[in-house]
Amino acid sequence: MDDARAQAGRLRAEGRATILAIETSCDETAVAVVREGRHVLSSVLHSQIALHAAYGGVVPEIASRKHVESLNPLVDEALRRAGLAFETVDAIAVTQGPGLVGALLIGVTCAKALAFAAGKPLIPVHHIEGHVSANYIAHPNLAPPFVCLVASGGHSHILYVEDYGRYRLLGQTLDDAAGEAFDKAARVLRLPYPGGPSLDELAERGDPHALALPKPAPAGRYDYSFSGLKTALVNAVHKLRQAGREVPAADIAASFRRAVVESLAERAMRAAMDTGAPALALAGGVAANRLLRRVLQEEAGAAGLPLYMPPLELCTDNAAMIGSAAFYRLMRGGIADLSLNADPGLALL
Ligand code: KG4
Ligand code: ZN
Repeated sequence: MDDARAQAGRLRAEGRATILAIETSCDETAVAVVREGRHVLSSVLHSQIALHAAYGGVVPEIASRKHVESLNPLVDEALRRAGLAFETVDAIAVTQGPGLVGALLIGVTCAKALAFAAGKPLIPVHHIEGHVSANYIAHPNLAPPFVCLVASGGHSHILYVEDYGRYRLLGQTLDDAAGEAFDKAARVLRLPYPGGPSLDELAERGDPHALALPKPAPAGRYDYSFSGLKTALVNAVHKLRQAGREVPAADIAASFRRAVVESLAERAMRAAMDTGAPALALAGGVAANRLLRRVLQEEAGAAGLPLYMPPLELCTDNAAMIGSAAFYRLMRGGIADLSLNADPGLALL
């Protein structure tokens, strides 16, 4: 560990690092090699979507087992594609949490073994910090401060990114995450798994004004609440089915998507304007939503606010974003020793 500490000190002094990053917090096994937090030398992943589809959601035991099978070959593949031998990597990064504990443990154990074997620094990364950092890869000129809307399957946060690794929480969901709400709505509409992208696609062909839904109004200026919308949708669909009437799935999907997106966009814009932030960024799986991207482009454009969105493959879970976040953590001395443990409820702030 002394070797690793000395190596971390050298990398920090030189302001450089080529990092091998591992992400296994949910249902994607992902490995990437990232240089100086911005240059992706390789990024590979194995999606477990097909495995979980039969169950309509992620089955934790199956996820863990598949991570075990996929991880070592993916580490080899990431190194091969980067054209690097393992010895030339400077540090190992891994998602510590939040996520499924069994899934996280596979990544953390593998990263610890690699760091121990090579005497390299081990860098623990918060999954949400990874999502935010996807923007650093996609936009070489983006630097803090900025406001970031992080919307994924487990989180809906508005963060003020004061500096690399320094965040202020402006608001968050009081109940369901946006992605969770999309997934649930999709299940009620009997759309294919995973629900969010299916609902997004179907909504493109529907009438967004067909179904009247309540406007969420949580008290906090930057907070979210999606459970009322979800209940309204469930009730509307059940009523139609009970009456033996056809469920206009595209119209309902479009109406639901509009309600969620309007809420996400309105409060993210409000946070950016109130704080006078120089830019707004999007992150997390829901940042792949087509309507959210269009609406924010329009609103930020009208307000003259620079808007940053990662490309779709960097919105959903991947390891490149973990490698980016890890670089900035390493530069602040944030390394762990081999007692590192997975933390399914890890706090960001
Ligand atoms: O960030 P992510 O890959 O994993 C988590 O950290 O949760 O986000 C996955 C979530 C899922 O809920 C998924 O349905 C949602 O992001 N999602 C979408 C879209 N693509 C992914 N939701 C709405 N529209 C999309 N196009
Ligand atoms: Zn995620």
